[in-house]
Amino acid sequence: MHVETALEMTMSLGESPLWSVERQTLYWVDINRGAIYAWRPEAASRPDRLVLDEQVGCIALCEGGLLAATASGIVRLRLPFDGRPEPLAANPQWRAGSGNRFNDGHCDAAGRFWVGTLAADEQSPSAALYCVDRGELVRRRSRIAISNGLAFSPDGSWLYHTDSPTRCILRYPFDVDSGTLGEGEAWVDLEALGLPGVPDGAAVDREGGYWSALYGGGRLVRFSPAGELLASVELPCPHPTMVAFGGPGLRTLYVTTATQHLDAVGRRRWPAAGSLLSLAAPVAGLPEPVGQG
Ligand code: BGC
Ligand code: CA
Repeated sequence: MHVETALEMTMSLGESPLWSVERQTLYWVDINRGAIYAWRPEAASRPDRLVLDEQVGCIALCEGGLLAATASGIVRLRLPFDGRPEPLAANPQWRAGSGNRFNDGHCDAAGRFWVGTLAADEQSPSAALYCVDRGELVRRRSRIAISNGLAFSPDGSWLYHTDSPTRCILRYPFDVDSGTLGEGEAWVDLEALGLPGVPDGAAVDREGGYWSALYGGGRLVRFSPAGELLASVELPCPHPTMVAFGGPGLRTLYVTTATQHLDAVGRRRWPAAGSLLSLAAPVAGLPEPVGQG
């Protein structure tokens, strides 16, 4: 699989790529810079950028705009960007400039926004997984250090999630009508598979293949619904963060990347780090659900 640089960038922590079929636009964030990007690959121009005054962990689609999980809470942003975030729910783990910021998230098919936090020291089990349903933010899982990898199987019957430092991906039986989770089970163990890095953000394709960006492992991996390793794609940088399907027919995989853990030598060695990467997807993706709100 041939990996290209879709857009040369110098992001610190690119994350949360998200495709809008309606707008034929890719959105993503640079968490550390509080930046949200919007780019139409067809237009072949530079992306639009909105900068918030705090970190932004992830984004989701909603009617007329985007939901953004900023460090301090969930906000709604109208599109085109007008720079005025509308608060929806506060982050209960955030305290005036410190605490656990929001990190990875995705909407389920009913438009609930599932989003987790990240422990300020990236180690202690003080973070949690939340779900925003009809404006109410509810804690759904606890004792997490870095909430990541949230995704759903195409039929909505499984919720995937990882606490990155454990190097394991779990799956939970999921009921989309009620939003309830069953008992979680260990699904993929990077250690047992001899895979490097930690599981970061993910996207599921039409066949139920789970694509995971291995942060520190410099590759994308694809797992079958049974948890078997089906593909491994090497990337030209060590810290890919998340993937999304986009472009015509949802046949392009977009990959965000980070420079935050590279020193000057690492940045020279990996000039593509911090850019937006792309490759032709062997299996197409699914349209992203539109969130409530
Ligand atoms: C977090 C980063 C972290 C990485 C690897 C990302 O989701 O935002 O801060 O270093 O995961 O665990
Ligand atoms: Ca992530």
